[in-house]
Amino acid sequence: VMTSTPQVTDNSFIKKLKSSGRSLIVFYGSQTGTGEEFAGRIAKEGIRYQLKGMVADPEEYDMEELTQLKNISNSLAVFCMATYGEGDPTDNAMEFVEWLQNGEADLTGLNYTIFGLGNKTYEHYNEVAIYIDKRLEELGATRVYQLGLGDDDANIEDDFITWKDGLWPTVCEFFNIEASGEEFNMRQYRVTEHDKDALPDRIYSGEIARIFSYKNQKPPYDMKNPFLTPVRVNRELHKGGGRSCMHIEFDLEGSKLRYDSGDHAAVYPENRVELVNRIGELLEVDLDTVFTLTNTDEDSSKRHPFPCPTSYRTALTYYVDISGKPRTHVLKELAEYASDPQEAAQLKMMASTSPEGKKLYNQWIVEDNRSIVHVLEDMKSVKPKIDHLCELLPRLQCRYYSISSSGKLFPNRVHITAVRVEYDTPTNRHVHGVATSWLAEKIPKGDGSEDPVVPLFIRKSQFKLPTKTQTPIIMIGPGTGLAPFRGFIQERDMARKEGKPVGETILYFGCRRKSEDFIYEEELNEFVKNGSLKMYAAFSRDQPEKIYVTHLLSKNADEIWNVIGLNNGHFYICGDARSMAKDVQAILLKVIQEKGNMSEKEAQTFFKKMESQKRYSADVWS
Ligand code: FAD
Ligand code: 2AM
Repeated sequence: VMTSTPQVTDNSFIKKLKSSGRSLIVFYGSQTGTGEEFAGRIAKEGIRYQLKGMVADPEEYDMEELTQLKNISNSLAVFCMATYGEGDPTDNAMEFVEWLQNGEADLTGLNYTIFGLGNKTYEHYNEVAIYIDKRLEELGATRVYQLGLGDDDANIEDDFITWKDGLWPTVCEFFNIEASGEEFNMRQYRVTEHDKDALPDRIYSGEIARIFSYKNQKPPYDMKNPFLTPVRVNRELHKGGGRSCMHIEFDLEGSKLRYDSGDHAAVYPENRVELVNRIGELLEVDLDTVFTLTNTDEDSSKRHPFPCPTSYRTALTYYVDISGKPRTHVLKELAEYASDPQEAAQLKMMASTSPEGKKLYNQWIVEDNRSIVHVLEDMKSVKPKIDHLCELLPRLQCRYYSISSSGKLFPNRVHITAVRVEYDTPTNRHVHGVATSWLAEKIPKGDGSEDPVVPLFIRKSQFKLPTKTQTPIIMIGPGTGLAPFRGFIQERDMARKEGKPVGETILYFGCRRKSEDFIYEEELNEFVKNGSLKMYAAFSRDQPEKIYVTHLLSKNADEIWNVIGLNNGHFYICGDARSMAKDVQAILLKVIQEKGNMSEKEAQTFFKKMESQKRYSADVWS
């Protein structure tokens, strides 16, 4: 298609809205795709209320244009914004948030509403959405509908549909418009299946972006262009107990990739062959059919939901998430394909926002832990078109791991420490974690044959050692929370051996049993022996009562205050123990208050200052 539109207008959403007769724009700040998915659902629904919508990535547009949105009648900006890490915006929303913080734009006349995506296990719950909501109002914009907050630790789908239920009536009243009432099931993409005898010569086979990038690797390597790294080591760290924790070493040789301890390594996994085949069987389709999904909205900057043309097998293996719990909008569309009226009714019920519907969704999908495969197995009459299923399911996400080595000591090797996810569901299905079960099979043979490779990139983090080696540090890392600290300890040990002055390096490690899951025990003991490390270890299940890192920590108030209060030391927490970070913080506040002779309020201020000086950092995941 020839186009005469000059490049400069590409980042103008105002022009796009005007030229296509739209008045609703839905921005998203998304890291794992959920925010983007929610944005898509809102934009699509708008048409029912005479608000034709478009989805927009704030990174792709000139956000200053928010000042001009008022010139389009009945215009509304919706924001679906996630909060990450320590209250940070997602990468794609970073610039927009900075613009809000630093600018003084006059947003009078801008109509907006916000849904936030957050997680209550983190301290800075939904801070980004809360900030944007407040800031837009300060700059003169009109909040058309209340801020919605979603909690990914509970049921974010439920939070979202509940919020959305109130959104449309409020918007209709605000603009004085009426719902068209029509139920619609408009597809966002149309499918083209390619003739087996005339296949396109460029077919994607799992690449994330550039075609053939896995056959023809070219630096620089990053999120869109991962490096196929050979797995040189993959060994078991647990000595018993039935669970598995892998120590894996990736080779960076020739990649020009660099990392610091504390950074994250991300890998793009593959879905299990048996699950992919099962979908093929259940839907009775030839998975090797090559197809293309093309956006029916020609103005959208997203032409395809994932790289196309490709085969259904490749899409189900590399591009779509087939093991997560399907969201309600997927169930709603599946209902259209059910030939059994009872199954159709149950699907519709689960997709509704009625109390019974929510209860059923919560029980049948969330608690029973059903993936799309389980749904299709348990509802035999539901036979969606496979291309529609590929359109509806979310994108398969990369998985992050805290790098457990030091880039100074191992510039060409990235170590990770990963616990294998494996469990049984209430419907008696044995589930394997996507990435960890796939990594478990990447074992170098060591017989001269080529080592297995995985697509990897490095994500820089703020979780860093103090610049001065003299600064004392305390690290709280139970379980795989030890990972980044292993890199920290290696680095401090190296500095000490080089004769540099090194401050105290104190680790609190915790696991279930000393004889089973005390990972890296020998290494850690060696560091203790040579004087590089002071270690406290809590074994939660070696005695009748639980002993956690937090119990040990509360006994050492003097030492903690000595590090953080008297010697300007750093304090770190890492791990997946849900409530751990909160418990540790409470202890810390108590120590600051008692040993520092401060009031509760002064202790809070002291703690906030530690945070802003990066003397307190958390790297937690759930
Ligand atoms: P998935 O297929 O994604 O399955 C995991 C999901 O299964 C869970 O979210 C949960 O919903 C469900 N689930 C798990 N166990 C059960 C159960 N018993 N019952 C019911 N449902 C269950 N992981 C590490 O091991 N080491 C690290 O150093 C590490 N660092 C990380 C750093 C960051 C910044 C982040 C965000 C995550 C980190 N993780 C780490 C977690 C890691 O990214 C993956 O989430 C983890 O390995 C599981 O991936 P998976 O694909 O195997 O499992
Ligand atoms: P548990 O599984 O026996 O309850 C690594 O996961 C270790 O962290 C385990 O020994 C686990 O104990 C422990 N753990 C669980 N919850 C915790 C918390 N809130 N604070 C500290 N450690 C915790």
